[in-house]
Amino acid sequence: MKNYENVTIFNHPLISHKIAILRDEKTSMKEFRELVEEITTLMTYESLKDDVATVEIDVKTPLETCKQQVIKDDSVAIVPILRAGLGMVSGVHILFPLAKVGHIGMYRNEETLEPQTYYCKLPEGIEDKLVLLVDPMLATGGSACDAIDLLKKRGCKNIKFMAIIGAPEGVSRVAEKHPDVKIYVSTLDRCLNENGYILPGLGDAGDRLFGTK
Ligand code: PRP
Ligand code: URA
Repeated sequence: MKNYENVTIFNHPLISHKIAILRDEKTSMKEFRELVEEITTLMTYESLKDDVATVEIDVKTPLETCKQQVIKDDSVAIVPILRAGLGMVSGVHILFPLAKVGHIGMYRNEETLEPQTYYCKLPEGIEDKLVLLVDPMLATGGSACDAIDLLKKRGCKNIKFMAIIGAPEGVSRVAEKHPDVKIYVSTLDRCLNENGYILPGLGDAGDRLFGTK
């Protein structure tokens, strides 16, 4: 895959370790859910390090009063792409407990692999926030592209997209269609199979998170 200015692939050893367990077909639903949360927290820490809005407050230590920067918690909104993106919300909330959550419901047509939007509910004022769009899987990139289109139509100007596993096809598609959106992927896999599943991947993230299969 070519290099894109708006794409960061983490390849961080701590995340990589957790992804190995996440991929394993023997990993239980409970452990899978916990790992998605933990990986998301690590990804959020890295992805937002340069753009988090802060305010200065006074803190009285046992010795004296000092100035300290703290995060402006309501400056970030989380938008999961349903269903699997739901598994990442708690991982962001660990760092931004007051972040409001919007939901975009999409499923892929199994034959065409085109995303179908069935739900969109976004918090008031989202257009002025840093929007963290989350979905563990970036396969063809259709879902992410359409979700970003929806956010832009709503007026969002500052959007970041985080996916745990990306396929080169999908990462390139989103990077080219939305060069103004920063894309963060923990690991870049080999390719898609004929059914649009990421190889080696981890299977169907929604089914593994919610135990539907
Ligand atoms: C999965 C995944 C993404 C999408 C990625 O959702 O969570 O939203 O596929 O594929 P794409 O990049 O080719 O669009 P799915 O459509 O299986 O719906 P689900 O989360 O409800 O299972
Ligand atoms: N959605 C998933 O859950 N897994 C894939 O490999 C591709 C899309």
